[in-house]
Amino acid sequence: MKKIGIIGSGVVAQALGSGFLKHGYEVKLGTSDKSKLADWIKGAGAGAGASVGSFEETAKFGDIVVLAVKGTAAVNALKLMGFSNLRNKTVIDTTNPLADAPPSNGVLKFFTNLDRSLMEELQEAVPEANFVKAFNSVGNAFMVDPPFSGKPTMFICGNNENAKKEVSTIVSEFGWEPADFGKAESARAIEPLCMLWCIPGITRNEWMHAFKLLKL
Ligand SMILES: NC(=O)c1ccc[n+]([C@@H]2O[C@H](COP(=O)([O-])OP(=O)(O)OC[C@H]3O[C@@H](n4cnc5c(N)ncnc54)[C@H](OP(=O)(O)O)[C@@H]3O)[C@@H](O)[C@H]2O)c1
Repeated sequence: MKKIGIIGSGVVAQALGSGFLKHGYEVKLGTSDKSKLADWIKGAGAGAGASVGSFEETAKFGDIVVLAVKGTAAVNALKLMGFSNLRNKTVIDTTNPLADAPPSNGVLKFFTNLDRSLMEELQEAVPEANFVKAFNSVGNAFMVDPPFSGKPTMFICGNNENAKKEVSTIVSEFGWEPADFGKAESARAIEPLCMLWCIPGITRNEWMHAFKLLKL
């Protein structure tokens, strides 16, 4: 059974944690405040492959690591995890570079720019890890087994081909169609999909959608 270490205690970490458990993985969630995950661990059923630890313990635990923290805190989270605990591991990067500023007519503000994504910064901070962007452009409610009539598309990118294959397998198990859109630089295009996804939500309170790539 593959072990998944999920760094985070928010809605994304909890949704993916429950999803990985449902799909037969062993899961540890990482936080600096275990009380935030008391309900999750109760719901997940302790002893059924679910546990909680520090960022460092969780990074050590995972054969695959999922990063699900606030974008502004992502680099700090890597430091707390310990770079050496990520060596040669696939790191699924769900984060978005949201600035601490209100949206403008429904458009979220980022602290990055179109020539520099958050995932490139993370990949440069820990070159020995294999970052793959995924799960960033959809709400947490739809990340696992989304209930749409067709399979939505999960755009992924990253520098390591094997890591992307590993993530594509997970994404497929979770009911998505993975679409490999290139190397780490492609996160410059994939991260802003989160802005696009949120516009109907912020402006009209419509959150029940996902993206689909059509091909001939
Ligand atoms: N919400 C969604 O549906 C959604 C969808 C797609 C992508 N995303 C992205 O997924 C990521 C997680 O989102 P979320 O809404 O679940 O959680 P969040 O509220 O954005 O982040 C919570 C996590 O950030 C950690 N954190 C906060 N400040 C920190 C610091 N200074 N150093 C280290 N860690 C820190 C917290 O650690 P502790 O546990 O120690 O408190 C907690 O685990 C975000 O980047 C978000 O943009 C969200």
